[in-house]
This record gives sequence, structure tokens and C-alpha cells, in this order.
Amino acid sequence: MKEIKKNILYSKETIEKRVNELAETISRDYEGREIVFVCVLKGAFIFLADLTRQLKVPHVVDFVRLASYGSGTVSSGKITITKDIETSIEGRDVVIVEDIIDTGITMDFLKDRLKKSNPNSLKICALLDKEERREVKVDVDYVGFTIEDKFIVGYGLDFDEKFRCLPDIYVIDE
Ligand code: IMP
Ligand code: MG
Repeated sequence: MKEIKKNILYSKETIEKRVNELAETISRDYEGREIVFVCVLKGAFIFLADLTRQLKVPHVVDFVRLASYGSGTVSSGKITITKDIETSIEGRDVVIVEDIIDTGITMDFLKDRLKKSNPNSLKICALLDKEERREVKVDVDYVGFTIEDKFIVGYGLDFDEKFRCLPDIYVIDE
């Protein structure tokens, strides 16, 4: 098997610091309210775990899993839900937690879908944002790091299901 070369982009200390800052900001923005976090599986599970454990406002968590047809590492545009949320979000304050936003197609789909359930508010929190790759406009309310167009692994993100549990974030070498 061909060896996959990767270079560190953000150390676990850098990630921890940034996640704590995001938790501070979100805690301030949602003071006196309760958040429903909708975590996009699988990639965002580690980010969600660290973010919520630093949060100072009440919250519940739920999970959604999406599949995009005919793709390896890039969204094809046709998205389906393979695991829906189980929490009623009507009239509630919802924050989607995503690992990375690339073309924006996945997030655009999920946002539209959740909006149909009439939440009181709906925001997006993404650890990483490949802004320059955007094909569909998506307003990301909370961003950990804006990055270049590189393939990322670690801290929940995978390449072919590998590298998810690395504590640091890496760029795969082409
Ligand atoms: P989008 O619909 O193009 O925005 O794709 C978003 C999804 O593609 C993310 O939730 C990831 O699952 C996956 N993805 C995009 N870029 C990367 C990457 O660099 N590493 C790992 N997964 C990625
Ligand atoms: Mg994902």
C-alpha cells in the first residue's frame, strides 16, 4: 500500500485554544438560552465533544448523518439523510456543528432541511472553512480556521476512514 504523507497544520494545543475561544463566544451569544447542537457525523464528533465541554450555557446534542452520492472526497451535489435528528427543534435555538465546509453543498442542504422544522434560530459552527472552494453561498456564523484548498485529516476528519483520531490536524501531501 502506498504510504500517505502528511504535514501538521494545527497542533492539538492550537486547536484547543481556538475551540475554547469559540465556546466563549457562543456562550456569550446564547446567554440565558438553551442550544440544540446538531452535529454532522462522522467528522464533527470530536469537535462537538471538545466544544460542548467548554460551554457555559445549557445545551443538548443530536446527530445527523448525510450521504453524498458518487463521491470520494468531493460532494457530488446530491445529498440524502441517512440518519436524521431525533430532537424536536421547533421554536428552539439550533447550532449546526460541522467539521469542514468545502463547496457548501452539504451545509446548504442541511440548513434548508432544518429550517423546515421552524427553529427559533439556526446558526452554523464549523471548525474549518475552505472558503475559496465555495460553490453555494453559505453564511458560516462561527469558524475555527479558514484554510487553503488542501485535504485535511485528524481531529475527526478522515481520509478513507483513516486518521480520524489523530489529536492534531494534518494536510495530506499530494
Ligand atoms: P461540501 O458539501 O463540499 O461543503 O463538503 C463538506 C464535507 O466534505 C465535509 O463534511 C467533509 O465530510 C468532506 N470534506 C471536505 N473537505 C475535506 C477535507 O479536507 N478532509 C476531510 N473531509 C473533507
Ligand atoms: Mg463531514
